Amino acid sequence: MLRNLSIVILSLCLISCGEKDNYDPAHDYFTFANVDQFKTRHVALDLDVDFVEHRLRGFVLLHMKSSDDSARKIILDTRELTIDSVAFVADNGEAEVAAFELGAFDTIKGTPLVISIPPGVDLQNEVIVRIDYETNPNSTALQWLPPELTAGGKYPMMFSQSQAIHARSWIPLQDTPGIRLTYEAIIRTPPELLAVMSADNDPLVARNGEFRFEMPQPIPSYLFAIAVGNLYFASLGEDTGVYTEPELLDASVYEFGDVQQMLEEAEAQFGPYRWGRYDLLVLPPSFPFGGMENPRLSFLTPSLLAGDRSLVAVVAHELAHSWSGNLVTNATWRDGWLNEGVTSYLEARLMEIIYDEDRVDEERVLNYQELLFDFERVPPQRQALAPRLDTGDPDDVQGSIHYHKGQLFLEYLELGFGRERFDKFLQNYFDEFAFKTITTEAFVDYLDVKLLRATPGLVSRKQVEAWMYQPGLPDDAPIPKSKTLEYAESLAAALAIDEVDLDDIPVDEWSPQALIHFINSLPDDLDTARLKTLDEYLDLSNTSNAEIGRTWFIQVATRRYEAAYPQLEAYLNRYGRTRLLSSIYRALAENGQDVELAKSMFAKARHAYHPLTVNSIEAEFRRAEAKQAFR
Ligand code: BES
Ligand code: ZN
Repeated sequence: MLRNLSIVILSLCLISCGEKDNYDPAHDYFTFANVDQFKTRHVALDLDVDFVEHRLRGFVLLHMKSSDDSARKIILDTRELTIDSVAFVADNGEAEVAAFELGAFDTIKGTPLVISIPPGVDLQNEVIVRIDYETNPNSTALQWLPPELTAGGKYPMMFSQSQAIHARSWIPLQDTPGIRLTYEAIIRTPPELLAVMSADNDPLVARNGEFRFEMPQPIPSYLFAIAVGNLYFASLGEDTGVYTEPELLDASVYEFGDVQQMLEEAEAQFGPYRWGRYDLLVLPPSFPFGGMENPRLSFLTPSLLAGDRSLVAVVAHELAHSWSGNLVTNATWRDGWLNEGVTSYLEARLMEIIYDEDRVDEERVLNYQELLFDFERVPPQRQALAPRLDTGDPDDVQGSIHYHKGQLFLEYLELGFGRERFDKFLQNYFDEFAFKTITTEAFVDYLDVKLLRATPGLVSRKQVEAWMYQPGLPDDAPIPKSKTLEYAESLAAALAIDEVDLDDIPVDEWSPQALIHFINSLPDDLDTARLKTLDEYLDLSNTSNAEIGRTWFIQVATRRYEAAYPQLEAYLNRYGRTRLLSSIYRALAENGQDVELAKSMFAKARHAYHPLTVNSIEAEFRRAEAKQAFR
């Protein structure tokens, strides 16, 4: 173990620092909490949802256990919370008020809440800390939507997004993936609305302004989630269903009609689903991600409602997190590939079972292209699967590298050991580490024992460590291939030199992925006249598929095809998912002429965007300007 650790530290230093320091890869640098002295086991929330002031208000009880008798302070994470009081609750229910102070604000980590433990409190037993507090209207985790930004237009909505380190902006707690806790909650809402959480939602619950939840399985803090709005439920199968506004219910039931089957196949493939029900929540367009794997209730963007189930890989992905991520959790954000990379691999395996291999190979090629693109932008020391991560923002570290490089690594192992052996390994891994957290080094040790040394001569530890700690891809990485995408690529090249007629492009037979690859492959020197013909023929500027739209408008912006700018702007107003928007804003800002235009489009659209999306787009502008200045 010691040897492994020193190899890690050594290789990290070779990549990034060049000099000795105290960097500890197993330490979470993004929490203030003194987790070595106290660990939270259970959280009880009691909160009012105030849609007038845009605040959650109430209290939390933290059930904590000390592992250090001499410790007399508890440090928690907060972010723009107003703390009214702190008290220790004794067994007989009596509360003893405790002194507390808020430390200095850090733009990434927020503000430490330092609680002094009163002398009478016995640390031999579990302590219950009660904190009365309210959230700030600008809480980074919560978005408060006025009715006009919802599908129905009549009721307000509020939802959370805690990953990576935003749970602290709505609950004062130890906000690190290294700690697992169960929770219960009482949530009070306006009587006409429904509250749902990452917990035991009851599809038949009465709307009476008060909702009770329990999450009996221990989860990391980034999986705390809540949404309140004019939500209704529809069943998708025995253990599955979908919540959304009534206006989107039918479309959601159609789009996600394969989810029950996905759940059953996932269990057959990866082992038991240990969370009870699996439901979906389809949110308004401002939801900043494609999906978020909140346990028992994945949150989804409505941009998945393409009408043809072509974008449901996102659901397969969020469902797969019920094993990788939610069940076996990365110890720190630096080990995020164990979460996103393993999940991307499982997602592809699930998609292969439910749909077909060709479709998944197409996705693999698109992911690989995105990975190559990110290698161009991400500095080498951040291209390792397990990079040094003690500075910066854990939300924004290394593009898609955790996802796509992580997936390729698992495909590499599968290829090396054979599918059967690798499947067994994965099932054992999920069993062994169920409801635990794991570092990259512990994973490599486990892999070494169970697979590398158990079947020697196939893949070496050194090869594995190259994936973990080196930039780029190893020479023997498996490069994805797809015949349909190769063909689409060749047609794109031929089109630019008039070797092929538009009529000869078999778009009707193509998947959205093939069309996306075709658009991505258009040669750099394709003139805007040809772009116009293509647009007229395929009606790309009016596509209702959000992913095709993203790809197309990146081209429109990069090549300054101004005739399509009105539709581009409409697109920027229709969607709120960061991935769909930020690359288009970036392409505009980087085309040499449209920074100001991009900024004015952003100024008009931003009121509808999520705070995290606003941050990402502003970061794109800053990067584009820095690049410009550098030139
Ligand atoms: N957990 C992520 C979303 C996330 C990552 C939120 C990091 C905050 C910080 C989720 O599972 C995810 O990966 N979503 C992807 C889906 C895609 C890869 C299929 C997304 O939203 O694009
Ligand atoms: Zn994910």
